[in-house]
Amino acid sequence: MITLGIESSCDETSCGILEDSGRVLSNIILSQKVHSDFGGVVPEIASREHNKYIYNILNESLLKANINLSDVDLIGVTNGPGLIGALMVGIAFAKGLSYSNNIPICAVNHLEGHILVNFISENVELPALVMLVSGGHTELVYMKKIGHYKVLAKTIDDAAGELFDKVARILGLGYPGGPEIEKISITGDEYYLKLPIAVKGRMDFSFSGLKTSILYHYRNLSKEEKERRRADIAASLQKSVADNLIDKIGITVQKYNPLSLVLSGGVAANKYLRERLNTFSLENKIGFYVPPIELCTDNGIMIAKTAYENYILNNKHHSIIPVPNLKLLEV
Ligand code: KG4
Ligand code: ZN
Repeated sequence: MITLGIESSCDETSCGILEDSGRVLSNIILSQKVHSDFGGVVPEIASREHNKYIYNILNESLLKANINLSDVDLIGVTNGPGLIGALMVGIAFAKGLSYSNNIPICAVNHLEGHILVNFISENVELPALVMLVSGGHTELVYMKKIGHYKVLAKTIDDAAGELFDKVARILGLGYPGGPEIEKISITGDEYYLKLPIAVKGRMDFSFSGLKTSILYHYRNLSKEEKERRRADIAASLQKSVADNLIDKIGITVQKYNPLSLVLSGGVAANKYLRERLNTFSLENKIGFYVPPIELCTDNGIMIAKTAYENYILNNKHHSIIPVPNLKLLEV
């Protein structure tokens, strides 16, 4: 069985083609560059860019997979959470393909996509604790099995990715901020700035205080110090994000005894974070799973995988509409 996954919830236009064996036939991702001048995603521009390129991305994806549209058995499309206009483009496109080619279609929750991408090539031991860290979400999820999720903790203000993006902006770096912070942090001293663990010992994440601490600190540096300390601030930020995540993960591991820890979402691409959580898992003798870097940020393959899993679980959707604030379905 061949599944085509279509993703357009934010600023990535992507089509991924997945075989039920788990073989990735193609995963074409267009990351919209136009937003970097604005320091963040401009929703209306995002919709227009999706509209402009989605057809080409599909064709490129079919070509790379060496198949025709008639070989596709199932279409999955993100219906939320995300930007309403951006979601509408992907959904309208997917519906058109489905009707005109008589291919079944499945709505996919983007957050479940970030989780299930880990299950393509790995036998993740369940129950698992999933640390989902993206541009819009920071959620710690207890997963009993595929389709069964319980959100144990979430951020009360900024998401982890949003923090990276905002701090990058303070430091005068480009958008998206996460990869820029990671790049310059390599030469930095992670102990330079002592940043707090927010709501320590409690089951909520909070990142806006870290951003404000960095803003005040950076503002008071001289021009020469700003230049010299940027890498140290970036490294301190990464350490602080890891400390904050591990604080809550630690409490949850004690309480729920999961067999594995799964890291997912765009921020999971961060190598420092991957290493810290890997070390934590070794110390706590639980499995550790994280997607390959290219499958951490938004992509069509994670949507294809989730559509396939929902399809075999018979979770059919009769009418697919965009739901910008869609939550993970808790069972
Ligand atoms: O999952 P994603 O592609 O989109 C959402 O669903 O939000 O995540 C995007 C977020 C951005 O905030 C970006 O700065 C962050 O992931 N990100 C990173 C890295 N690569 C992307 N954050 C830290 N380190 C990275 N290497
Ligand atoms: Zn995402």
